[in-house]
Amino acid sequence: MKVKIAPSILSANFARIAQEMRAVEEAGADWIHVDVMDGRFVPNLTWGPKVVADLRPLSSLPFDCHLMIEEPERYVKQFRDAGADTITVHWEACRHAHRTIQNVKETGAKAGISINPATPVALLEDIVGDVDLILVMSVNPGFGGQAFIPRALEKVRQAKALVERSGREIEIEVDGGLGAENAAQIAAAGATVLVMGSSIFSAEDPAEAVRRMRAAVEVLR
Ligand code: DX5
Ligand code: ZN
Repeated sequence: MKVKIAPSILSANFARIAQEMRAVEEAGADWIHVDVMDGRFVPNLTWGPKVVADLRPLSSLPFDCHLMIEEPERYVKQFRDAGADTITVHWEACRHAHRTIQNVKETGAKAGISINPATPVALLEDIVGDVDLILVMSVNPGFGGQAFIPRALEKVRQAKALVERSGREIEIEVDGGLGAENAAQIAAAGATVLVMGSSIFSAEDPAEAVRRMRAAVEVLR
């Protein structure tokens, strides 16, 4: 699987979001990572389906919606209708993760399950057969610009082993504290999707940052 680069628009400047999204797409980004926060599951607020729908025509890349919200099942259809291609819910926010994952798949979106830094990969054993993506959080969700938690690297290896045992094609996404300095190591551990917020959009030239990240992971090939 080619390693995908997914710029997180959480760190973009929304006064010029159209230019920023176009720049990362032209520079070769693979997905647009869209962080949805409710001020309850995480101590921060972002946007809802209306903003996602308004952003949708600005890019031809898949929209990877990371729902950091309580009771995500209530909003799955709205985010799908807004244009989400992948909808990832948090294991910790779902009382019935299996049902919620089925709900996501019924909309036609790809279904992801995410785990916080303190949640073991082993808890995904009984859901791995149902998901299209596992998101290993490498920071505590809520904010961009935090430091990568080193333990996440071992969790990526564990997720890779779990995916291999399942015999299914499942993306392993890593989110939080990624940059040119650690991208190759994280990809080598088994990550197939690298989310990058501040290391792309806080860079002076986001397009150049995307190309730099690509070069950093290309050394693996
Ligand atoms: C954090 C979000 C991330 C965030 C990552 O809760 O899920 O997607 O944008 O930002 P960086 O790459 O700056 O750590
Ligand atoms: Zn995210």
